[in-house]
Amino acid sequence: MKTPLMHSPIQINQVKLSSRLVMPPMATEKSAGDGQVTEALVAYYDEKTKGGHVGLLITEHSYIDVRGKASPHQVSLADDNAIAGYKKIVDAVHANGSKIMAQINHAGSAAKIVDTGMVPLSASAVMNVNTLFHKRGTLNQPEAMTQKDIDAVIQQFVKAAVRVKKAGADGVEIHAAHGYLLGQFYSPLTNKRTDAYTGATLEGRTLLQRQVVAAVRQAVGDDFLVAMRFGAADYMEGGALPSEVEEAARLLAPGLDLLDISGNMCGYMRTGHTEPGWFAELSRAAKKGSELPVILTGGIKTAAEGEALLADKAADLIGIGRIMLQPGTVAARLMAE
Ligand SMILES: Cc1cc2nc3c(=O)[nH]c(=O)nc-3n(C[C@H](O)[C@H](O)[C@H](O)COP(=O)(O)O)c2cc1C
Repeated sequence: MKTPLMHSPIQINQVKLSSRLVMPPMATEKSAGDGQVTEALVAYYDEKTKGGHVGLLITEHSYIDVRGKASPHQVSLADDNAIAGYKKIVDAVHANGSKIMAQINHAGSAAKIVDTGMVPLSASAVMNVNTLFHKRGTLNQPEAMTQKDIDAVIQQFVKAAVRVKKAGADGVEIHAAHGYLLGQFYSPLTNKRTDAYTGATLEGRTLLQRQVVAAVRQAVGDDFLVAMRFGAADYMEGGALPSEVEEAARLLAPGLDLLDISGNMCGYMRTGHTEPGWFAELSRAAKKGSELPVILTGGIKTAAEGEALLADKAADLIGIGRIMLQPGTVAARLMAE
């Protein structure tokens, strides 16, 4: 089947993507123990983008502060020493003709004391409810963040974003999905606050995300892509609802160039669903709520499946994740089919 929509370029802000195919962020655990980029990691991203078929690569979530580190070999963007290593990835990907953004993250209550040596932070002193994190080892009871903690985290996001810009990337993606810190603020299951960040209203649940976007945008300027991976629903009783996404997207849009839709406390899977684009109800709602281009990821295995979702206006860009992990330059094969 021909896939003209998948192959059509798209201009987002100052950046022209060669296709609608996105390689979404996927943690590799290939960094050195101190978070430095290794040659193996550069070679991996080089191979994945060879031929320029991937319009946009979003690299794996990288920590902005040790207290928000999610796993032992996670890539660091937590200090300026990280810039030179990340630049090697940027240069390799650009030489292949793809555009690149770095995903920056604070794990909040998904960070473990055994990895960070510190009690984790979260919106409230509530254990994380993402079952996948529990399967990966002992989670700890987090501390509720003070305003001082919140202000510090906003600055950590800003500094990490500036590092990504200095490394020559095309943009940065703020991770607000899968039950990490910003997702903990979004979910009423983990946000029990009663201050301005209250878990009782959408305004409160999105306030920190909006503050991060505004501060990042101010620091990086207008001609640098700022995206958010928005975990738009929990699919858990008492959690964030699909019916809230349209309004949430309206609230989150100012300052952003791109919304990348996934799940929140349910992670990147949706129980009971195997259809390509299992978060399509969320991406459609996000498109209703904002004018931003939207990425849809989850269960899409072929360019033809992506084409059908684009034709149906479920999204503007298509993320294909685990299929890309197969050995070799998978994108070339996918886009030739
Ligand atoms: C090994 C692995 C690591 C992942 N790491 C990240 C990550 O760092 N950040 C993120 O937002 N999503 C992460 N994801 C989720 C993927 O980006 C994607 O949403 C998910 O795999 C579903 O898409 P797929 O069905 O095409 O694989 C990861 C997924 C896998 C399988």
